[in-house]
Amino acid sequence: MKKIIFVCLGNICRSPMAEYVFKALAEKCGKSDCFDVQSRATSYEEVGNPVYPPARAELERHGVFCGNHRATRLTYEDCATADYIICMDDGNVRAAKRIAGDVNGEKIVKLAAFYGSDEDIADPWYSRRFDIVFSQIERGAKGLLNILSERD
Ligand code: 4NP
Repeated sequence: MKKIIFVCLGNICRSPMAEYVFKALAEKCGKSDCFDVQSRATSYEEVGNPVYPPARAELERHGVFCGNHRATRLTYEDCATADYIICMDDGNVRAAKRIAGDVNGEKIVKLAAFYGSDEDIADPWYSRRFDIVFSQIERGAKGLLNILSERD
C-alpha cells in the first residue's frame, strides 16, 4: 500500500479537496485498498477546523464528499512514513521540506507535476476560484493515479 499525503497551507481548502478527489477516483476504479490517502497543513492556523464551506460545496458539486475532515498539521513522522508528499505550491514544498528535515526530499513534489506542469495551485482562500482549483486538482489526481497504477 502506498501512503500519499496531500499538503497545503491550511488543510481546509486545497489539500482536503485533493485527498477526497483522489479517494473518489481510486474508489471508482476499485483501487482504494492500494492507497492510504491523507492530507495535512504546513501551518497551525486552521488545526481542528473543518473543510472551508466553499471548498466543500465545490467538491459536492462534483459528487465528492469530505465527511468530517478536520485540519491537522504535517509532522516529521508523516514525512518519514509517506511514500509521496504532494504539495499545492512552492511555499508548501519549502515548508514541507523544513518539517521533513533529513527525510528524502525527493518524495516532496507539486501536484501539477502529475499533469506535466510546474504551476502552483493557487490558494482559493485568496483567489476565491474554487472551480479552477477543483479542475487543477482533478487533473493532478488523475495523473497521479495513472502513474501509480502503471507502477503496480
Ligand atoms: P488552504 O487555504 O491552504 O488551501 O487550506 C488556506 C486556508 C486558510 C489559510 C490559508 C490558506 N489561513 O491563513 O488561515
